[in-house]
Amino acid sequence: MKILVTYFSNTGNTEKVAQSIKNGLEGQHVDLKPIKEVEPSSLKEYDIIFLGSGIYASRVNKALPDLINAAQELPPNFAFFSTHASADSYQDGFKLVKRKLEKVKSKIISEFDCMGENIGIPEATIKSMLEKLPPEKRKEAEEFQKKLKGRPNDEDLEKATKFAQSIIKKL
Ligand SMILES: Cc1cc2nc3c(=O)[nH]c(=O)nc-3n(C[C@H](O)[C@H](O)[C@H](O)COP(=O)(O)O)c2cc1C
Repeated sequence: MKILVTYFSNTGNTEKVAQSIKNGLEGQHVDLKPIKEVEPSSLKEYDIIFLGSGIYASRVNKALPDLINAAQELPPNFAFFSTHASADSYQDGFKLVKRKLEKVKSKIISEFDCMGENIGIPEATIKSMLEKLPPEKRKEAEEFQKKLKGRPNDEDLEKATKFAQSIIKKL
């Protein structure tokens, strides 16, 4: 099988997941590329595309729908992956991409997501945001920040590798 793993990653979290996905695809022909290096006309050459992004303002980066819209022909199978720093405001991130794929009848085989520490926002900014919260909410938010530290961690990355292996078994 010919496989493309492509991603947008601002601070490197999603890139780590992309590399771990590639690790799970041993024995296949795999191209691993940042999305800006992908030619829209090349998409049709692949049996499956793993498409990933961090989540920014509840959406994947615009480069993802732009690439899908620019391609004349799309492969039959897609799998999505994302990293995000909230418990909920990521779930609809692939909305625009999904809408397009539904029209052309490409299948979304599966999706993977994990937490990604918000290294794009300085710690001082996060601290001052937490300080503004009422005490009961603040405690909860501080606990959440602790869980976010160092993510994606080894366990997340191992899950990403297993995710890729499980998809190969399905095809
Ligand atoms: C400007 C900005 C906006 C973000 N918006 C969201 C968001 O809406 N929901 C969320 O869960 N995470 C959000 N995050 C957190 C990132 O999705 C998370 O840190 C992710 O792992 C970043 O991936 P990357 O390192 O591949 O860029 C945001 C981060 C930044 C810098």
